[in-house]
Amino acid sequence: MKKIKVGLIGCGVISDIYLKNCRSFEHVEVVAVADLEQVRAEQKSKEYGIPIVLSVDELIHHEEIDIVRNLTPPGGHYALCLQALNAGKHVYVEKPLSVSLEEGKALIETASKKGLLIGAAPDTFLGAGLQTCRALIEEGAIGKPVLATAFMLKRGPEHWHPNPAFFYQADGGPMYDMGPYYLTAFISLMGSVKRVTASAGIPFLERTIMTGEDIKERKFRCIRRPIFPAMLNLKAGRSAPSLQALM
Ligand SMILES: NC(=O)c1ccc[n+]([C@@H]2O[C@H](COP(=O)([O-])OP(=O)(O)OC[C@H]3O[C@@H](n4cnc5c(N)ncnc54)[C@H](O)[C@@H]3O)[C@@H](O)[C@H]2O)c1
Repeated sequence: MKKIKVGLIGCGVISDIYLKNCRSFEHVEVVAVADLEQVRAEQKSKEYGIPIVLSVDELIHHEEIDIVRNLTPPGGHYALCLQALNAGKHVYVEKPLSVSLEEGKALIETASKKGLLIGAAPDTFLGAGLQTCRALIEEGAIGKPVLATAFMLKRGPEHWHPNPAFFYQADGGPMYDMGPYYLTAFISLMGSVKRVTASAGIPFLERTIMTGEDIKERKFRCIRRPIFPAMLNLKAGRSAPSLQALM
């Protein structure tokens, strides 16, 4: 089987797990890395033995690369994925696919017109836990589900992420960060959403980065509302429940 060559854009916190795990797939090889901050790409290249460090544009147009893996923060997902698709590359992007429904649809349409594949995290719904739940629901083991709830209650990412400001900007936030895990699980278990009702609040206008070395500016301002209760009504399908999510 032909080895699939991957070019990875965005050499931040989550890139390590991709670069480590990719080594265990014999048909996949990361051949190039890129980051707006080239020094980060150079570090990952050294650490994981990736042969080429490129600019983002060079990587997207590199003839050897089959798949572009986009691990930038959410605000960079749409533009980079679109560029990669237009350059004839398959794409895999971290969650969320994009920060608006229109952009997400445009990416899927572009991929389909060009005969390319696009995939997005999270893939957790393919794991044994959620697949077992789905099999149980489908075989009627718990009857017809009428209500599902999810809560993500924890201290903010500034307690573990060295560069957390993007989580609180207009193109970040808990719904784009942790929301995709719960919503993907719900939708794969119960079917798609008909109506959303939600409200949000900003409990602290300013937050402090609590981790990481060599951080010059520890305070940052929040724009996105990090408290997000939502109620979702589902289309009639596998079941007709409401979902409540508090993130
Ligand atoms: N950190 C986690 O635990 C985690 C887990 C799952 C998914 N994710 C997702 O992965 C993505 C990245 O998260 P992260 O924690 O690695 O962020 P990060 O800030 O640590 O890293 C992002 C990297 O992308 C680079 N970058 C930003 N814009 C770019 C652009 N336009 N072109 C090229 N490079 C660019 C930055 O310089 C940085 O090195 C996000 O979508 C996040 O939701 C993160």
